[in-house]
Amino acid sequence: EAIRAGSLPLAGKHVLITSGPTHEPIDPVRYIANRSSGKQGHALARAAYEAGARVTLVSGPVTLPDPANIHVIHVESASAMLKAVEGSLPADIAIMAAAVADWRVASEGAQKIKKDGTGKPPALELTENPDILATVGHHPDLRPRLLIGFAAETQNLIDNARGKLERKKADWIIANDVSPQTGIMGGDANTIRVVSRDGVEDWPEMDKGEVARRIIARAAEALGAD
Ligand code: CTP
Ligand code: CA
Repeated sequence: EAIRAGSLPLAGKHVLITSGPTHEPIDPVRYIANRSSGKQGHALARAAYEAGARVTLVSGPVTLPDPANIHVIHVESASAMLKAVEGSLPADIAIMAAAVADWRVASEGAQKIKKDGTGKPPALELTENPDILATVGHHPDLRPRLLIGFAAETQNLIDNARGKLERKKADWIIANDVSPQTGIMGGDANTIRVVSRDGVEDWPEMDKGEVARRIIARAAEALGAD
């Protein structure tokens, strides 16, 4: 650690990152999930470590290996992710890259739901999950100095991202168009727009590792500037 620190831009800083989807149980054998490979979030964790930071990665279920030298907390549900995130504060920078399921089943069945033979499907009552980014953004005393969220949208990209920036009290929203024709979901490349109170920046298509390194470099600059 001492040898690594030296002049790296995030030496001595704690960076907290969420990655992957969440799984919300319906019964012991079924769940509701978002599509997310975790590639972008895990790449951010690696880039933050390479920039000298101590990194905590709170990851939903992904098939990726745990990145080396990073404290990884594995969770399944949004509620568990929120708990792990709150328990990992304070952080200098937090980046919420997870695709959190918006809803969970109101009461998880203790037993597997069986078909009843009538052909009529069961009615699932859903309830909204806690918003992890907004909770951290509105934290009374442990809000990170730099808080970054993502917004995957299929329409009205910038308006939606601006709304999230304000509602969740984030500093930047990394917006990307995930319409099926872009082929971004699950792929290795990403085309993003950085939305902040200073405006919108369009970045060219890059692989997710390069996107991560540039976000981290920019974040280190922003911390140094205030
Ligand atoms: N997010 C979160 N907790 C949630 C939902 C979202 O922390 N329960 C975070 C995501 O990790 C992301 C940002 O909020 O950084 C935006 O997520 P998104 O799903 O685009 O926003 P929502 O507020 O859920 O709005 P939408 O109705 O568009 O899904
Ligand atoms: Ca959502």
